[in-house]
Amino acid sequence: MKKYLVTGGCGFIGSNFIKYMLEKYPDIFIVNLDICSYAGNLENLADIEKDSRYIFVRGDIVDSELVKGLFEKYDFTNVINFAAESHVDRSIKNPELFVKTNVLGTVNLLQRAKEHWLIGDDEYRPGVKFLQVSTDEVYGSLGETGLFSETTPLDPHSPYSASKTSADLFVKAFFDTYKFPCNITRCSNNYGPYQFPEKLIPLVYNNACNLKSLPIYGTGLQIRDWLYVLDHCRAIDLVCEKGKLGEIYNVGGNNERTNLFIVKSIIEYVNKNVNSSCTEKLIKHVEDRKGHDLRYGIDASKIKKELGWEPETPFEEGIVKTLDWYKNNTTWLEHVTSGEYKNYYKNMYGDCDE
Ligand code: NAD
Ligand code: TYD
Repeated sequence: MKKYLVTGGCGFIGSNFIKYMLEKYPDIFIVNLDICSYAGNLENLADIEKDSRYIFVRGDIVDSELVKGLFEKYDFTNVINFAAESHVDRSIKNPELFVKTNVLGTVNLLQRAKEHWLIGDDEYRPGVKFLQVSTDEVYGSLGETGLFSETTPLDPHSPYSASKTSADLFVKAFFDTYKFPCNITRCSNNYGPYQFPEKLIPLVYNNACNLKSLPIYGTGLQIRDWLYVLDHCRAIDLVCEKGKLGEIYNVGGNNERTNLFIVKSIIEYVNKNVNSSCTEKLIKHVEDRKGHDLRYGIDASKIKKELGWEPETPFEEGIVKTLDWYKNNTTWLEHVTSGEYKNYYKNMYGDCDE
């Protein structure tokens, strides 16, 4: 039986992944190690918390004794590392925390997994694997044309993407130096249920429902390649099962949209389904993000050719599913936007509504 250590499983993608895996594989065991930062919420997993195949451990991926103890106790066959500080705007304000969690945390997990799995000189237990969940942001920014492939030079611009790049390089170093069994996936922007409303889609949805200003950084003509979260979960599972050791796989939605397009789609949905007073008049262009990457676009032909993965959810379907979910889960939205969120929002967007 496969035994997974999933880190950061209380966050957006990790919680979707855990549920996806429990539903897909009857014979599986998952330990979710999560510190429950502002972005980690046990409510995301309320529907499976009593599942006997699942255990939650509250703790820090940087804590070497804790991670060592978990390996000894549960004898994991796979590690999927989602745990991270994940928001670019927060990284601009507090880069040190991103180095600690994203870099030191990843190196600690790599070391503990290596120690536990090693059975001889550069030889590991059969079937074990470490999967690092990375991002297209490690490649930097594109101009009007071209796409990121796995061989595009790394050129991160934000402290967030610099920390993710650094973690990727440690994973690569473990493969090159110790033949450590691993893969890296680099995915584009995800959207779907349980995303914390500091990110564009849930933040704009929440503001739109409350008829608050919709902050667009600069022109709003920046482009992201949006992928429905469950398509990402399917890719991670596939790479974990079938990815060639040491390889990097780009994962993308083939779905490039400007931020303005995304915001206008949300306004249209809210106007029709939640509050007819919500109109484009709520859009407010605010100061641009420092070092704002203009365009991300993924060439996902390698994962298609080698593993047969393709995005399955068209944006028009995924965005309605996503916004329907937020509409039907107002309590979740209320919980996560109370407390720390209020201070964060005030510091970030202080005068946005004046
Ligand atoms: P998220 O911020 O929603 O969740 C991160 C989770 O990690 C939270 O539950 C948090 O409590 C936990 N965490 C933070 N620090 C920790 C620590 N020191 N120890 C243990 N747990 C800790 O992030 P997400 O959007 O779900 O992203 C998950 C991963 O996917 C990240 O590594 C991110 O870089 C990557 N990624 C995200 C996207 C995206 O669009 N969201 C796209 C590509 C890659
Ligand atoms: P975000 O969801 O933070 O993801 P990322 O920075 O990882 O791509 O932002 C997506 C895009 O939306 C990005 O170009 C920044 C922009 N944005 C806004 O214009 N306003 C906002 O309030 C937020 C949160 C993001």
